[in-house]
Amino acid sequence: MNSYDIAVIPGDGVGKEISAEAVKILNAVATKYGFKQKTETFEWGCDYYLKHGKMMPDDMLETLKGVDAIFLGCVGDANKVPDHISLILILSIRKGFDQYVNLRPIKLYPGVETPIKSARPETVDMVVVRENTEGEYSATGGFFKMGTPDAVATQTAIFTQKGCERVMRYAFDLARKRKKLGGSPKGMVTNCTKSNALNYSMVFWDKVYHQVAQDYPDIKTDMALVDALTMWLVKNPDYFDVIVASNLFGDIITDLGAMLQGGMGFAAGGNINPEGDYPSMFEPIHGSAPKYAGKGIVNPVATIESIRMMMDHLGETQASRDIERALSQVLKEGKVKTRDMGGRHSTAEMGDAIKDAILLIKK
Ligand code: IPM
Ligand code: MG
Repeated sequence: MNSYDIAVIPGDGVGKEISAEAVKILNAVATKYGFKQKTETFEWGCDYYLKHGKMMPDDMLETLKGVDAIFLGCVGDANKVPDHISLILILSIRKGFDQYVNLRPIKLYPGVETPIKSARPETVDMVVVRENTEGEYSATGGFFKMGTPDAVATQTAIFTQKGCERVMRYAFDLARKRKKLGGSPKGMVTNCTKSNALNYSMVFWDKVYHQVAQDYPDIKTDMALVDALTMWLVKNPDYFDVIVASNLFGDIITDLGAMLQGGMGFAAGGNINPEGDYPSMFEPIHGSAPKYAGKGIVNPVATIESIRMMMDHLGETQASRDIERALSQVLKEGKVKTRDMGGRHSTAEMGDAIKDAILLIKK
């Protein structure tokens, strides 16, 4: 029997309540598909910071190193800790575990409303592959002459051959896989760039993209400047298959992507270390919404979708497929809706509905 150790980091705000739904689904699929899973919860985040002066213990990576996967709720509470400090928790795991792919599927389920007119279940099915360890998020720079009229801040983006190449390879492999599975017959990787203005970093990025593309003659190449890309995503979402983007650009376009898929309550991401040298981490990409904390009203779909991605990553493909089916069924039926969907059901009721649907699906 397969057995998985899963670390759960609820984080701040609504993190606790969505983590409960994550564990609920994990338990359901483990029982149904005959694997064992053991979750251990780590209470790191802003409250930990208020007590200890840091977001997490110094040996966090050591503690997490041995687990099979990590579920991260959501981190940040600007009333307690400035955001540029609280996000150290998430960024330390992404970088420390070399989770160089931030995988963000953008899919609109039937029954889910979106504010974007062009978005329909038939037109929204793409994946953003976001570089997750370097680029604009390399945390390199400095302040000079602070507090004087000559104050200066610099922030240096770092693009390495290895860093660009490996994420692009992942994107091309993914496009190939999607084409083979028939999910997306397009077989195309769009390069999200800005090489017209960023004349070093993005020119280099494009160059690596074209180098890697040579190894994938069966996959179409495509390119869009990031500003234009935001426009195309709204105008013609059906055009896209796989998009590869740098850390910052990927961050920006996936919030737009979340709107295509119905809102932040539906968008999930995987921080993947493809080689499996370290555990990968799965999370809803929404924030921690401290004002809703403890009210039990937020939508757990993004969380459950992140558990689906975790199952997929662990090789529990049947569990993954059935979570997807259950999500699809419940959303299409539309009997259970959380507040963001215009309904009155609670976080737990939505989680229960999806869990029940999973249990009812024939194996
Ligand atoms: C995300 C978030 C994070 C990011 C923040 C919280 C550091 O916006 O996962 O998209 O920018 O990567
Ligand atoms: Mg973001």
